Amino acid sequence: MKILGIETSCDETAVCLIEAEGSFGASFKFQVLGNALHSQIATHAPYGGIFPNLAKREHAKNLVPLLSEVLAQSAQAVQGPSLIQLVQGRSLNIRELLVREPELFQALEEFLKTHGRPDIDAIAVTHGPGLEPALWVGVNFAKALSAVWNIPIVPVNHLEGHIAMAIVSNPDTSLYNEVSGLRIDESGFPAIALLISGGHTELDLITEWPKFKTIGETRDDAVGEAFDKIARMMGLPYPGGPEIARLASRSRQIQEVSPLELPRPMMKDESYDFSFSGLKTAVRNVIGGRTLTYAKKIEIAREFEDAAADVLVAKTLRAVEEHGAQTVLVGGGVSANTHIKQRLKEALDEQDVQLLIPAPEWATDNALMIALAGYFHALKKEFADPASLRASGNLRLPNV
Ligand code: KG4
Ligand code: ZN
Repeated sequence: MKILGIETSCDETAVCLIEAEGSFGASFKFQVLGNALHSQIATHAPYGGIFPNLAKREHAKNLVPLLSEVLAQSAQAVQGPSLIQLVQGRSLNIRELLVREPELFQALEEFLKTHGRPDIDAIAVTHGPGLEPALWVGVNFAKALSAVWNIPIVPVNHLEGHIAMAIVSNPDTSLYNEVSGLRIDESGFPAIALLISGGHTELDLITEWPKFKTIGETRDDAVGEAFDKIARMMGLPYPGGPEIARLASRSRQIQEVSPLELPRPMMKDESYDFSFSGLKTAVRNVIGGRTLTYAKKIEIAREFEDAAADVLVAKTLRAVEEHGAQTVLVGGGVSANTHIKQRLKEALDEQDVQLLIPAPEWATDNALMIALAGYFHALKKEFADPASLRASGNLRLPNV
C-alpha cells in the first residue's frame, strides 16, 4: 500500500510517500519512496517564536513544491492530456476546498495541469494537535488531493506519529531505498510513551498498537517550550533546545558538578503530571535582568537540562514500574536531546527495559511519521469523511 503523508501542524511543512505492507508485527515492512521537508525556523527565528498566521502562509506556499519533489523522487509523476480534462472537471470543487488558501489553490491548479494521478492508496494528514491555522492548510490540501485523485484520507494524530517514529527502524536519510520494519513485537508491550516536544509533555500507557491511555501531562508549559523560553531569556536564538544542549554540554566538560541549584517541579508528586513554568520562573530569578556572561549561561543551561532530565526520568521510571512496562518509547523534538537520552538509557538499562528513541533527524516533525501512523489505520480502512474532517488544535490521543 502506498501512503502519502502530509504534516503542517507547526513550523515544518513536510510531505512523504511510503510503500508499506504487512500488519503490526514481524510481517510489517516499509520503504520511503520520497521525502521532502521545509523548515520555517529561519522565518520565525527573528521573532523568537512561532507566529501561527505566518506558519499558515508558509505551509500554503511550500506544500505543492514539496509534493512535486516527493513525486519526482518516487518517479510517480506522469504527464498526460487526459488528466488535464479530469482536473478541469473538478477544479471548481478544489477552489471551494481551498477558498481560504488562494495561493495554494493556484499552485495546485498549475501542478495538476502537468501531473497525473499518482499511484497512491491513501493520504495521511495530521489533523491535530498543533496550531489550528497551520493544521487547516494541510487538512484542506489533503481534501483537495483526495477530491481530484479520488483517494481516501486517513486523519492522523500528530502525537501518535511521533510515537510511531520510535517503534520503527529509522531509515537512513541518504538511502531511501532500504526496507525498514518494526523494532518492537508483542512482547514489547505494555509500553510507556514519553512525548516531549515544543507543544507537549505527556506519559501514555500503550497496551497494544495503537491503544493509548494518557496517564500524565504537563499542567503548564511543555518541556520544549521551557527550553525555548529559557533560551530566549538568555538571548539565544530560536529554537532554544539545541542551543541550551550545546551550552550544557560545555559546562559538563569543564565543571564536575553543577554550581547552581534549580527546582525539580512535581518530581515527588504522586501523579504523572509535569510542570515546567516554575522552572522557567526560577531561571528568570537567577538571571535577574542582568546581561549574562558566557560562564553564567553555561551554568544555567546545564542545571536547567539536569532539572528537566531528573523530572522526566523519575516520572517515566515510576510509570514503568507501576505498569510493568517492557519498553519505553520516546517521541517529539526534545527526544533529540543527548543528555536526556543518556539519562533515560542509564535508568532503563538498570531495569532491563528496552528504550526506543527515533534517530535525531526523525525526532522533530516530519511526514514519514504521519504516513507510518496512517498506514495502520488505512489497513483497517479508518478513513475520514472529507466533508466533516476538521483540524483540531487541541486533539488528544484517544484513550482506549
Ligand atoms: O516535535 P517538534 O519538532 O515540534 C513540536 O511538535 O513541538 O519539537 C520541537 C521542540 C522545540 O521546543 C525545540 O527546542 C526542541 O523540540 N528541541 C530540543 C532539541 N532539539 C529540538 N530540545 C532539547 N534538546 C534538543 N537537542
Ligand atoms: Zn511534533
